[in-house]
Amino acid sequence: MKAWRASLLYFPAPAQAQLETDGLLVVGPDAGGRQVVLAVGSYSDLAPRFPGLDVTHLPGRIIAPGFVDMHIHYPQLDVIGSPAEGLLPWLENYTFPHESRFSDVAHNSEAATFFVDELLRHGVTTALAFATSHPESVDALLGEAQRRSLRMIAGKVLQDQNSPDGVRDATQQSLLDTEALITRWHGVDRLGYAITPRFVPSCSEAQLRGAGELAARYADVWIQSHVAENKDEIAWVRELYPQARSYLSVYEQFGLLRPRAVYAHCIHIDDEDRALLRATGTAAAVSPTSNLFLGSGFFDYAAADRAGFLYGLASDVGGGTSFSPFHTMLAAYYVGREGQTKPGVSLKPQQLWWQHTGGAARALGLEGVVGNLLPGCEADFLVLNPQATPLLARKTAQAASLDELLFALIVLGDDRAVEQTVISQAQVA
Ligand code: GUN
Ligand code: ZN
Repeated sequence: MKAWRASLLYFPAPAQAQLETDGLLVVGPDAGGRQVVLAVGSYSDLAPRFPGLDVTHLPGRIIAPGFVDMHIHYPQLDVIGSPAEGLLPWLENYTFPHESRFSDVAHNSEAATFFVDELLRHGVTTALAFATSHPESVDALLGEAQRRSLRMIAGKVLQDQNSPDGVRDATQQSLLDTEALITRWHGVDRLGYAITPRFVPSCSEAQLRGAGELAARYADVWIQSHVAENKDEIAWVRELYPQARSYLSVYEQFGLLRPRAVYAHCIHIDDEDRALLRATGTAAAVSPTSNLFLGSGFFDYAAADRAGFLYGLASDVGGGTSFSPFHTMLAAYYVGREGQTKPGVSLKPQQLWWQHTGGAARALGLEGVVGNLLPGCEADFLVLNPQATPLLARKTAQAASLDELLFALIVLGDDRAVEQTVISQAQVA
């Protein structure tokens, strides 16, 4: 057993944060040998219950749950900041050429190490990630995550049509590869597999049908894709499926909506789609920096909350512009302010933080496993320094409430505020 004494940020209830200013976090193995939180609370209450405990004291620091990124592209490290008229030219001119390099083992190995380093430096301890259409890209990413004990879910991209040489796969082989990767990786250590049809235009009907059949056979694997991100993309889907009620309903038709299915964007959807997300237990990955950068549109928070479907925050690197959960939370706040039916919403800092930690974990079906520091949660946590920059120090010193403190971190924070990222007791960054 080991313990940390610092200010502790955690969520006793959904979207309701608590700060224990002089807290104690006690970590140790559970019955299965996983490093989990054994106790969390005030130092004065807890310390007498654990005499002789090895305590690391971090005065002035905040211990917080590791962030959960619900949608990120491992091969798009080098695509960040590539301007385009919109999604489709961005895919064609930048994304597909970059992804075609991931058939190469040496390139994968270098990129996987860099990618995991970057996640940890920014305080992301769980991610749902796209690899590329090359099976070896999944092996590289999940192999690296396994070496670093990271909780990572990833999948080989399915794209057997409307895709150039170098990334286009072959229908039957793509499904065989997916099944082999499920067998190799899903449930191994802290890893999971996600069946990953890129989006409707890039997948033949046979490929989508095969993906749905695999999803039915492997009920606890994840599914990840994109939906209703961009108006040109939607028009294309309407040409491909003129009978479909909506873009989202195409995925429904192939059995690809269910708990543990995560769809990035969900921007241009209607209330019937929202009810479908809710009824099927499907989650949305909200990616505000990507949507602003690619000019895709705005996620409608008020409508999402009215419908009551699951959602959480995501970087969507490399359409997204930053690995930093702080930048993503701030962009989500901007979208709430300006990207909604007037007068817009002022998202609360505790909601934003929840959407990138416990709320994202819940949307992934990992509530009580990651994204929080309640007893039983896996011990992935961050040591945050609220004095990491002069302005952050000045602003946080004046915070008169938890909301003011969290807002200061969201608006002024970045990787400099993440002093350590601790993964199940192994200090890795
Ligand atoms: N739609 C299909 N592929 C992609 C991708 O790589 N990024 C984004 N943002 N949207 C997509
Ligand atoms: Zn994406």
